[in-house]
Formats: sequence, structure tokens, C-alpha cells
Amino acid sequence: MKNIALDNFVSVEDLTNEQVIDLIQNAEDFKVGKRNITLKKPVYASNLFFESSTRTHTSFEMAERKLGIQVISFDPEHSSINKGETLYDTLLTLEALGVNFCVVRHSQNEYYNSLINLKEDQHLHMPILNGGDGSGQHPSQCMLDLMTIYEEFGHFDNLKIAIVGDITSSRVARSNMQLLHQLGANIYFAGPDYWYDDKFEKYGKHCKIDEIIDQVDAVMLLRVQHERHDADQNESRFSALEYHEKYGLTNARYKQMQSDAIIMHPGPINRDVELSSNLVEASKSRFVQQMRNGVFMRMAMIEAVLRGNHLGGLE
Ligand code: CP
Repeated sequence: MKNIALDNFVSVEDLTNEQVIDLIQNAEDFKVGKRNITLKKPVYASNLFFESSTRTHTSFEMAERKLGIQVISFDPEHSSINKGETLYDTLLTLEALGVNFCVVRHSQNEYYNSLINLKEDQHLHMPILNGGDGSGQHPSQCMLDLMTIYEEFGHFDNLKIAIVGDITSSRVARSNMQLLHQLGANIYFAGPDYWYDDKFEKYGKHCKIDEIIDQVDAVMLLRVQHERHDADQNESRFSALEYHEKYGLTNARYKQMQSDAIIMHPGPINRDVELSSNLVEASKSRFVQQMRNGVFMRMAMIEAVLRGNHLGGLE
């Protein structure tokens, strides 16, 4: 049983392979009731979601409550952010009121840099867990995805993993390609060319879904992120049906997959766009398992940050 200590959890970029495996093991132990922590002092957390969320917000709150942490509600729409208060000043306020750590989701890429890399005259000490920043990182989704893959295959080395869809907009894709590549998996990218960037080449190979669907161990489908396409004319190039037939997981493609291959999706799902609606609960689908794992992985991530900051009497 490993105790991991981290200052913050804002990106997967600084994690070692050993830390990833330890976090997965701790999450698995929470899942089967083999791991419990007892807080020796009260801990208060607040979840600040400036973008919509069902899974991430609710499972962080569930994880906090399962760990015995007191959750202080925060509603961005009725907060003083609307009077011009900055995110930094909002956290400074919450810290002064007694909140010990925050989970933040924000549309600005790397919003967390101004909260954790402080100048000498700044006095915010509160650790941050990133619930997703723009098209930057989604570390908790990545870690629960890795937990789900590890449960299936028991390793990452040389696994063939396809990441399919709107890749440039996806923080899930960015975190997953970085960490899966680091762990030794072979990544294949598929989807519309205009939602792919050559800078991803260092992590994997760009190809057509039909070239790899019968070879991969896991297909990670991504939602088409309309909210990040304001100035993007490409969406009008195809209907939902055309996207599904050209890039999505149709029933015909599903049948070509290997018998032990799995399909994954971070959610929310656009049924009959990224995949055929009847495949959401098909035998290869791991969507529900991903969501269930999210609670236990977030417990492991929060525990690591509590230890890294000596909160709750944990060392
Ligand atoms: N996967 C994910 O981030 O889902 P939510 O937007 O519902 O949190």
C-alpha cells in the first residue's frame, strides 16, 4: 500500500509511471474497501465549476464525502465573480473563510498557473485539483480512463489505443495521449483532419478509423465539442449522420473489433454521432465502469493532495 503526496493535481505532465500505477492501485483498493483513511482534523473543500459538468463535479463531491471531507457549496452564477472578482481573489476569499482545497473547472487553458506559481507577495496556499481547463488538461478523467484500461488488460505496454473524434478541442485526448504514450501504449488518432494537429505526431500516428478498428485494444471516442467551435466553419461540412458514418463507431465497425477490445467515452455522449446508440451499453462498452471508477480515482487523487499539504492530519 503506497502513500502518495502531491502539492496540487492540475496536469498529468509531471506524473511518473510509478505514481500513476500507485494511484490506480490506491483507487482499486478504495473500490473494493481495502483502503480507508481517517481524517484526524476536519477538511473543507469547495468545487468551483465555471463550465457545465455532471460526471466530474458530482464524482468529486462523492469522493470528498466518502473521504469524510465537508463540502462547501459554490455557485459561480451567484458568486461575486459576477461583480468582477478574479478567480485568484475568489480562492483567497474561500481560503480565508476556512476552505482547505478547491477543485476548479474553467474555460481558460492553464488557468491554474496563476494560482499555484505565486509571486512572493501573494499569499494563497490552497491546493488545486483541476476539473478541466479549456482544451488543456483533464487529469481526473485521464486517470479514471487509465484505471479502466488497467482493470481490463493489467498493463499499458504496447496496447493499441485509438483516440477518435474532435481531438484538437479535447482536454481528455491531450491528457490521455501524453500519459498513455509515456506508459508505453501505441496511440492511433482518427477523425476529421481539421480536428487534428501535427503537434500530436510525437504521441502517435494519424490514420483512418477503418485502417485500425480491427487491430486496436481500446477505442476512446470523443464528443464533438460544439461549444469550442465558435469560429469553426468545419461543423457545417457534415450532418450528425454524415459524421457518424464517416468517423463514428457504427455497428459495422463494432463488429470488426477484436473479441477482447473495449470502447470508452468520457461522456457526455452524443448518441448516433460518436457511436451508434445501441452500443452505449454493448458488451465491449466500458462507459458505466469509467463513471463508477471516477469516484474511486478521485478519492485517490484527493488523498494524495491532502498528504502533500498535510491536511486532515495526513502525512
Ligand atoms: N467527462 C466529463 O468531464 O464529463 P462532465 O463534463 O459531465 O464532467
